[in-house]
Amino acid sequence: MTTTATQTYRNLLLERRGAITLLIVNRPDVLNALNRDTLVEIESAARQFAADPEQGALIVTGAGEKSFVSGADINELAVLDPRGAEEISQLGQRVFAGLERAGKPVLAAINGYAFGGGCELALACHIRLAADHAVLGLPEVSLGIIPGYGGTQRLPRLVGAGRALEMILSGRRVKAEEAERMGLVNHVVPRAQLMAEAEKLAQAILRNGPLAVAAVLEAVQRGLQLPLDDGLRLESGRFGILAASEDMHEGLKAFLEKRPARFQRR
Ligand code: COA
Repeated sequence: MTTTATQTYRNLLLERRGAITLLIVNRPDVLNALNRDTLVEIESAARQFAADPEQGALIVTGAGEKSFVSGADINELAVLDPRGAEEISQLGQRVFAGLERAGKPVLAAINGYAFGGGCELALACHIRLAADHAVLGLPEVSLGIIPGYGGTQRLPRLVGAGRALEMILSGRRVKAEEAERMGLVNHVVPRAQLMAEAEKLAQAILRNGPLAVAAVLEAVQRGLQLPLDDGLRLESGRFGILAASEDMHEGLKAFLEKRPARFQRR
């Protein structure tokens, strides 16, 4: 499969492997910590990915072998006043929400440390795979701050309030196996196979109807913010809209004709 480098970023590497975009946070000197510029670049890359009809899935990872993302850049945090702190929190939240709402699957390939903003970046992805040496945590309280890029909201939604509060209040770091047991990551894989497994999963999703995949993402994401009855209405609405698509008829017909479906995104 051909790999193409795309637009140049200062703190990111962006590659396209067929219909999969690889977003690599690339600040090895600080174990890929997220400064403001990097957040802005992630926002731009996520928009570019979302708008590109040729691209169906995004894999987010960190440069090097040791770290996914070590957190927000503590050098920048150290000089924030209250207004600046609220503003950077809003920026981080907006950038991560942009990934979450890309309308296409976003996978985190957690290849090492995922602390603070790094853990929050992974939490904003739809699916998380972790290498067996990965360690995750929200250690902000040990720095006298709180998670500010969505961690206090997404972690309890993912693993439940009790487990989330224990992690956030203690700042305890969790190894990959435990993260898998508690539902914080979907799977742990040997580190040498992390990217291959992430691409395999992305490819499996890409074989499915793209309109249906987008509808699932919307139903689950928006539904999580709704009372159950409203979420069920959202689901029925999307189910109905899909029945107007050629893809739905193609998918069902292909099954009956015992052949792979040829989805057209319409
Ligand atoms: N922000 C800025 N710089 C960071 C950073 C961060 N979040 N995490 C690591 N770095 C820097 C270190 O200061 C160090 O810089 P130096 O070489 O100039 O001294 C470099 O990255 C390597 O880190 P180091 O601590 O030497 O590596 P390690 O393998 O011993 O430890 C960590 C790795 C991730 C356990 C440790 O760096 C750490 O605890 N980082 C902070 C994690 C954190 O609290 N994140 C949440 C922030 S809100």
